[in-house]
Amino acid sequence: MKLRGNTCVIGLQWGDEAKGKITDLFSEHTDLVVRFLGGSNAGHTVVVGDQTFKLHLIPSGIVHPGPLCVIAGGVVLDPEVFEQELQNLVTAGVAYTDRLKVSQTAHVVFPYHKLEDQLKDDSLGKRKLGTTARGIGPCYTDKASRSLAIRVADLFHPEVIDEKVRRIVAYKNRLFAALYDSAGVNEDQMAAKAKAYAEILRPFVCDTTELLQDAMAGGKRLLFEGAQGTLLDVDHGTFPYVTSSNASACGVSAGAGVPAKVIETFVGVAKAYTTRVGTGPFPTEQDNATGDRIRERGKEFGTTTGRPRRCGWFDAFATRYSVRLGGVDKVALMLLDVLSGFDTLKVCTAYTYQGKTLKSFPTDGEVMKAVEPVFEEHPGWAEEISGTKSFEDLPGAAQAYVRRLEQLLGVPIAVVSVGPERGQTLLRDALI
Ligand code: GDP
Ligand code: IMO
Ligand code: MG
Repeated sequence: MKLRGNTCVIGLQWGDEAKGKITDLFSEHTDLVVRFLGGSNAGHTVVVGDQTFKLHLIPSGIVHPGPLCVIAGGVVLDPEVFEQELQNLVTAGVAYTDRLKVSQTAHVVFPYHKLEDQLKDDSLGKRKLGTTARGIGPCYTDKASRSLAIRVADLFHPEVIDEKVRRIVAYKNRLFAALYDSAGVNEDQMAAKAKAYAEILRPFVCDTTELLQDAMAGGKRLLFEGAQGTLLDVDHGTFPYVTSSNASACGVSAGAGVPAKVIETFVGVAKAYTTRVGTGPFPTEQDNATGDRIRERGKEFGTTTGRPRRCGWFDAFATRYSVRLGGVDKVALMLLDVLSGFDTLKVCTAYTYQGKTLKSFPTDGEVMKAVEPVFEEHPGWAEEISGTKSFEDLPGAAQAYVRRLEQLLGVPIAVVSVGPERGQTLLRDALI
């Protein structure tokens, strides 16, 4: 397999599409791997033999010995999670020195962001978003508000950061007390953390925008690793049940700090069914024995929070929207093995709203809540397929299912995955 130019891996559903596995596979053929959005709300899994890596912040490319891994400015970085991940890499015997860079313009997640995330979401009762409580929304909110934000570069100005942290904590604590009757966080502790964070990050911090420009000028090949998924995009997803950043392909240029035109190929990653964590509309959800079976076979429990994922049938209407929004060239269809043993599989091809078929994916949250999925049915297959070595060796019904999804999505399905390991991958297109 060869990558064609700079490539971006993007989730096409509500996250957890197995972007980590695809990023790891592509990392063999790339010089740099760049994370450009989100924070430790992400949980990307890479399985290599008997080792399983769960990465929240550090690009999945780190598992491969080659590529330089970059956490770009669009990321909201929790230094405590970052430090824990470094420790996990040491334990697993993965060398990262000189292979990991952190942008000085990334925003820093502090404990008060996590507290705010939790308090705010809990206070919403039945309107709760079901966030990961990793401080993502509050940190991006502070970024947009500017005066309450702390960027990585700020940590290295001791004369300024102390005053800044204390001012922000005083403000936040007044808010926590008034709105949530909470004691908030300790000002001295937060000031001490800011100092400690500088030391954790110091070996890695640089101007990643310049680094990426130099890499491109030097003919290096870049791989951009998306986090979350298109339907969780703050502008283009199922608002308000989304994350706080541009998780679709639209976010890569701003988040990574590269010109949009340098990305040649967008590979969209989708599961052969659908999952969602947290609240929000999910038209093809199967809150029944079918969903339970998918959850059990697919081990569908959150990589970050351990929450059971909601499971349902493949939603071709939503996924086609993501493909078109992101200009996706090829699709990697993941976890096909999970669907073995169903007599019949359903695929959603359209939504109806108030009895009428919708022409386009609803961006109005109230409409999205009320749509009904239109399903078509496909014969299933009984055989286990996790040992299959080529697409042509899959049962006929599995091949037909993939071909039908390809038709509905309007782009080639270039990769089919039948298990978590590197070798459990069927390439239908030698040139991705
Ligand atoms: P990400 O956030 O998009 O990287 O996805 P996650 O890592 O959160 O979730 C995907 C899960 O599916 C992980 O546990 C992977 O190890 C696992 N996985 C990846 N590909 C396959 C596959 O083809 N079959 C099965 N059964 N599991 C897979
Ligand atoms: P990866 O990169 C699945 C979901 C949360 C919640 C909503 C908002 O592993 O695919 P947030 O904490 O971001 O404010 O939560 O978004 N969410 C994810 N779901 N995979 C993820 O990341 C997610 N990141 C956020 O469950 O519904
Ligand atoms: Mg995940």
